[in-house]
Amino acid sequence: MNATHAPHTLVAYSSKNGSTAEIARWICEVLREEHLDAEVAPVSDVPSLAPYDAVVLGAGLYAGRWPAEATRFARRHRQALSEQDVWLFSSGPLDSSAAERSIAAVPGVARIATRVNARGHITFGGRLAEGARGLIARQLLKNGKGGDFRDRERVRAWAHEIAAALAGVPGKR
Ligand SMILES: Cc1cc2nc3c(=O)[nH]c(=O)nc-3n(C[C@H](O)[C@H](O)[C@H](O)COP(=O)(O)O)c2cc1C
Repeated sequence: MNATHAPHTLVAYSSKNGSTAEIARWICEVLREEHLDAEVAPVSDVPSLAPYDAVVLGAGLYAGRWPAEATRFARRHRQALSEQDVWLFSSGPLDSSAAERSIAAVPGVARIATRVNARGHITFGGRLAEGARGLIARQLLKNGKGGDFRDRERVRAWAHEIAAALAGVPGKR
């Protein structure tokens, strides 16, 4: 056993319809491949950030915002987050825009990034699939606006960047 440990990293997410949860799992998978001590969990299952050295926090976008549970999580853990290495991601656009250009964080998420001094933010495409909850979701699907615009390789490439940035950061456990 080495004297120093890999940074203990949490990938926390808020996902109403499951697609951001899957992105979070893809990120965690890469961090583990890169020998980081990584876990993935919905924000509702994370009572404290004390066990972690680094946090990746992401949520699906709804009407230009993260769901309330995600912004509440960032507010509640603001102190811990501002002392850790933090990356944020959003998942949303139901078209190819996120694959074609870099999409800025929505204002509420940009504020969180500033408050916690996040090391980065990225917007990934989203997914809207049959079975999504809510009237608007069902209308969008009826109008042919559904689809999966997530790019797993882009997600994995971003996770590799995080792993590279965390290389050499000593873990506390
Ligand atoms: C009612 C509704 C509102 C949405 N609003 C936005 C939005 O403002 N911006 C955006 O980029 N995507 C928007 N989307 C697309 C979602 O962000 C996308 O489906 C995302 O992958 C959902 O993540 P989840 O499955 O983890 O909940 C919206 C989808 C629905 C159903």
